[in-house]
Amino acid sequence: TRIAVLFGGPSTEHDVSCSSAAGIITHLDRSRYQVQPVRISRDRRWAIGPVDTPEGVYTPDDLLRLTPAPALTRPVTDLMSASAALACADVVFPALHGPYGEDGTVQALLEVLRVPYVGSGIAASAAAMDKDVTKRLLAADQLPVVPWALLKHPACTLEKADRERLGLPVFVKPARSGSSIGVTRVDDWDSLPAALSRARRADPKVLVEKAVIGREIDIAVLQQPDGSLTAGPPLEIQVRGHQQFFDFDAKYRDNTTRFAIPAPLDDTLTHRLQSLALTAFDSLGCFGLARVDFLLDQTEPLINEVNTLPGFTEASQYPQIWAATQLPYPKLLDTLITSALG
Ligand code: DAL
Ligand code: MG
Repeated sequence: TRIAVLFGGPSTEHDVSCSSAAGIITHLDRSRYQVQPVRISRDRRWAIGPVDTPEGVYTPDDLLRLTPAPALTRPVTDLMSASAALACADVVFPALHGPYGEDGTVQALLEVLRVPYVGSGIAASAAAMDKDVTKRLLAADQLPVVPWALLKHPACTLEKADRERLGLPVFVKPARSGSSIGVTRVDDWDSLPAALSRARRADPKVLVEKAVIGREIDIAVLQQPDGSLTAGPPLEIQVRGHQQFFDFDAKYRDNTTRFAIPAPLDDTLTHRLQSLALTAFDSLGCFGLARVDFLLDQTEPLINEVNTLPGFTEASQYPQIWAATQLPYPKLLDTLITSALG
């Protein structure tokens, strides 16, 4: 099977995507797959690697050497040759995070090319990328979400009624971003304008969310080749460093954060989280995989967000959750690819 792995891209999660692709490419079973890496630069130029290397298989360093030719006669020449290469693949793994790669844009190209791909289609990808749209759809299906206010335009500020309803602290987040980029915890209203500016650098559309001070639990959902869905054991994120939450540094730069798999929760709560995750997957119309992130306060679990292309680095939650259930990373990739080829 010839598999094209797409990575990089213009979003602020470019580097995370390169690490996810390195994880995927390292763990693809080479007796079954021939790998063709396709790197998208930050300025949206596409570079196609040959199918595996003449000496053997790709390494993470080979991936980073793959760069698009600087001189292009027309802006889309690279995309046209990349499309031709993608159309020849049996399946594509969009190992992309953030807008452009996780929001339905690239998925639309793959639909047009009629090439099967891992993960959700256009609509679910677009819905899950936008934290405001996600909450509206989940809330419409009676799923519990973290209370929020939407500031749609850069001139908006938080109304007094919303300040009273949400209370302090709050989290300020770009609507369409990932890896906590642009996210700030606000403990006093005087710090709100700076937090809004920071979030607006990532996205003009911003959310202010009630801060749920409690535990953070992720549930992985995996679609089996027969179409059925499996929810993995709950993973608890245990941030130990100086961070106030599981921010970018805690995710990728320091190694003090621990994952507990399974999270120490009673069976009733575990089942409730798994059932909510499966319903959320269905509610957004996801396909293949998703990681549904929860916040637990004293009482109800609240859905924080749904990731249609969760991180796939060696240390990321999604592959680790499945590894803990005797589904090692290469077998997880087989399941995802087999489902995509459906
Ligand atoms: N957005 C990052 C990659 C995650 O959800 O894991
Ligand atoms: Mg996310």
